[in-house]
Amino acid sequence: MKILKGNIIFTENPEAFTTYPRGYVVVKDGKVEYVGSTLPQIYEGEPVEDFGENLIIPGLIDLHFHAPQYANIGLGLDKELLPWLTDYTFPEEAKYKDLAYAEGVYRQVARELWKNGTTRVVLLSTLHIEATKLLMDIFNESGLGAYIGKVNMDRNSPDILIETTEDSLRETEALLESYGNKYERVKPILTPRFVPTCTSELMHGLGKLAEKYQVPIQSHISENRGECSWVKELHPESSSYADVYRNHNLMTSRTVMAHCVHNTPDELEIFKENGVFAAHCPNANYNLSSGIMPVRAFMEAGIHVGLGTDVGAGNKVSISSVMASAMQGSKMKWLETEGALAPLSTPEAFYLGTKGGGAFFGKVGSFETGYEFDALVIDDSALCITPGRSLEERLQRFIYVGDDRHITHRYVSGDLISEPKLK
Ligand code: GUN
Ligand code: FE
Repeated sequence: MKILKGNIIFTENPEAFTTYPRGYVVVKDGKVEYVGSTLPQIYEGEPVEDFGENLIIPGLIDLHFHAPQYANIGLGLDKELLPWLTDYTFPEEAKYKDLAYAEGVYRQVARELWKNGTTRVVLLSTLHIEATKLLMDIFNESGLGAYIGKVNMDRNSPDILIETTEDSLRETEALLESYGNKYERVKPILTPRFVPTCTSELMHGLGKLAEKYQVPIQSHISENRGECSWVKELHPESSSYADVYRNHNLMTSRTVMAHCVHNTPDELEIFKENGVFAAHCPNANYNLSSGIMPVRAFMEAGIHVGLGTDVGAGNKVSISSVMASAMQGSKMKWLETEGALAPLSTPEAFYLGTKGGGAFFGKVGSFETGYEFDALVIDDSALCITPGRSLEERLQRFIYVGDDRHITHRYVSGDLISEPKLK
């Protein structure tokens, strides 16, 4: 058992923060057993770790991060999606055939995510199976939680980064067999890259694997206008981009779709009906001139929404920076829609980056009883905290101004996680 004391703040729902100034959280078997202002008598005599005036917040959840693209972060962002993929991304991803190269980058990815307070992440690797296993091994070693996907791509891809349909399905199934139950916190996820690079046969095969192994799925949807027109040309038989995925049994309650910038109301219906998660990646959407996701419309429709950095189209590893970007974008959307889509409040943005995305991993992202104790301790004393500031104001300050220098401890399922080694 662990008992922590400090300024506890989290969101049970998007509307408001729950706070326990100088409160207590009791953790047993990695899960929250109690949270509140006072320590119940039954725990008297147990050791208490006192974090003083520091904040204790849930760990941050990243629903979309391309591990190999960390090597490209900040590059080529003056292009739109399709030329960016061709000129920057595919040539970089082709390098991950080389395991020594992959190891060098992937160890930095684990360290950067740890540093920035991400406790759970949904990662894409490349189509290379050995490098994908290596990434899973490295994350298991780190103690962070992750779904990690070997990318599937068998059409409209360069010769240096393409696989046959048969190889793609065979290797993916082999990975599910060998790594499906290998690690507790690191699991495989099916990863058809996006419709333009996956044949119908491949998508059907992946839909079957998802059903057979009951595994999650991640992909991209409606990020960029050029991409959307291309999907229409490729699939005239489907009524929409989301309909293409649905027809291949890829829209499930274990699916997360990144971007969702240009979806129609009918597509939101498909998300809602099937319990699909949307990963909002504002930094990437601004960088590649993709647009502003109407995140309010998704929330109003009752769709699960979380946040993603989308490194390397996103230029920051930090989910707290993505919270700030999501709020900024939502204000521009509010103007653009003449007030129809209200801006995100601070608790709403925080909820998306903790409990909203955390739901993809189970009971993660809150300090309610029964939740995994994923947490960060924040020492914000260097952020000009004058007397009388509320916990809500201090968290708002951290979101807009703070960074990894202010995070002093990181926990995943009750375990204190130390800095991942670069080797
Ligand atoms: N769509 C297909 N592949 C990618 C990728 O690597 N990054 C982004 N942002 N969108 C994609
Ligand atoms: Fe992406």
